[in-house]
Amino acid sequence: MEFKTIIYTKDSGIATVQLNRPEVLNAIDEDVLLDLSRAMDDIVKDDDVRVLVVKGNKDAFAAGADIKSFVDYSPRDAHEYIFQVQISMNKLMAIGKPSIASISGYALGGGCEMALACDIRIAADNAVFGLPEINLGIIPGGSGTLRLTRLVGEGKAKELIFLGEIFNAKKALELGVINRLVPLEDLEAETAKLARRLARKPPIALRTAKELIQLSYDVDIHTGLMMEKEKFGYLFSTEDQREGMLAFLEGRKASFQGK
Ligand code: COA
Repeated sequence: MEFKTIIYTKDSGIATVQLNRPEVLNAIDEDVLLDLSRAMDDIVKDDDVRVLVVKGNKDAFAAGADIKSFVDYSPRDAHEYIFQVQISMNKLMAIGKPSIASISGYALGGGCEMALACDIRIAADNAVFGLPEINLGIIPGGSGTLRLTRLVGEGKAKELIFLGEIFNAKKALELGVINRLVPLEDLEAETAKLARRLARKPPIALRTAKELIQLSYDVDIHTGLMMEKEKFGYLFSTEDQREGMLAFLEGRKASFQGK
């Protein structure tokens, strides 16, 4: 597959999307959104892909929406752009496989939102986070007002978004914005280790857990428990469930086929 703005690779069940506009700190323009969307479509279709890693380069995960292309936008253009942003973020959420944002350097605005749309965030000690849109006279439009709020709570989200505050990786860990903080030189190896661990887990159970956790924001506890019960029963129809339990009884490591 040909892409203009990302490097898309697949290796041993792990798909990697690397944002690749280093000259503008991986600023996100419409081409990036289209490329991301196409990569997500491929990941959904490819049963061999068990895990997605999204990353940038050493200096930038992504420094947000491409402000240069914003300047002359009409309200309608802005609406269209954010529509595309939300489609790609939703696709990223909906691949049905775990995703890891592996973050070094700037993760600002839409870059921060892209990391928030991944399931697990691992960051290097040079990572810088923030939703600075307010300083441009706008607001986060790629789910930041929702996803940051869900991670850190309303009070902290309001402070960070109202002030457009930039914060470092240590603060991001304290706030719960990231799951893990590692030295920059270890980021690649730690990301790969985490991705390999996830790739060995049973895909159908992972997908089900992911769906239920996402659903938990939108349903009341009784409906959520009902869904959990149904899905729990459903997983006993999978080969992975039989393999997982047999392997436990036989004292060996399970080999999950995603069936
Ligand atoms: N959109 C478009 N171009 C961007 C960009 C963005 N979001 N962020 C960085 N760039 C470009 C810069 O214009 C510059 O290009 P140039 O060399 O042609 O002038 C290049 O990337 C390097 O950025 P620069 O600002 O020189 O680096 P820095 O290290 O001094 O500062 C930042 C880095 C991230 C603090 C600064 O670039 C910045 O504030 N970017 C905007 C962040 C933002 O508001 N994002 C939310 C957008 S909604």
